[in-house]
Amino acid sequence: TVGNSTNIKWHESQVEKIDRQKLLQQKGCVIWITGLSGSGKSTVACALSQMLYQRGKLSYILDGDNVRHGLNRDLGFKAEDRVENIRRVGEVAKLFADAGFICIACLISPYRRDRAACRAMLPSGDFVEVFMDVPLRVCEDRDPKGLYKLARAGKIKGFTGIDDPYEPPLDAEIALQCNTGDCSTPYDMAQKVISYLEEKGFLQ
Ligand code: PPS
Repeated sequence: TVGNSTNIKWHESQVEKIDRQKLLQQKGCVIWITGLSGSGKSTVACALSQMLYQRGKLSYILDGDNVRHGLNRDLGFKAEDRVENIRRVGEVAKLFADAGFICIACLISPYRRDRAACRAMLPSGDFVEVFMDVPLRVCEDRDPKGLYKLARAGKIKGFTGIDDPYEPPLDAEIALQCNTGDCSTPYDMAQKVISYLEEKGFLQ
């Protein structure tokens, strides 16, 4: 039995991941960017995707905000919805990695357990956790969408970092720090990720 279904068998294809990777000259993987709202996840994801494109490498961004417009439009922000949000994006990211893409997932993904579950979906080494290590006060100062202000005013309930938890990674492959308002550029941050991918042979 698979989930709630019975009589379901895995179907193998003649073209495998290794063949697709050869075609693309890269190794499929998941770059999982986690951090508070306003920490710069999407900005770094876009810079990274652009830099990879310029090097002829194929990537695809799964952005929490965007995925919530479609696949996850039925989910809100209570704990169980966040868990399901992360689970679904983890499964989709796994498919992209299997397709040979460098899949960049950027979601708050506040709970350690859920990120660990996504990591466990992939072959060892193929899940690269990137922590946007930006303190709450910096994110709140930026407040690009005005949501922290609303949360402080009690107009949004259960906002991450205000009245909902964020569990920072303990063992992220990469931490991108920004302790003051004066941070390195998104491109410098993305470059750190690129260097890691190079070192681990994902870009071939
Ligand atoms: S999660 O926690 O991983 O399921 O969240 P995610 O899918 O990444 O969505 C986060 C964006 O949703 C907006 N938003 C909220 N964030 C946190 N808490 C609450 N209650 C909330 N309500 C709406 C917010 O704009 C987040 O955008 P980012 O891109 O992180 O700034």
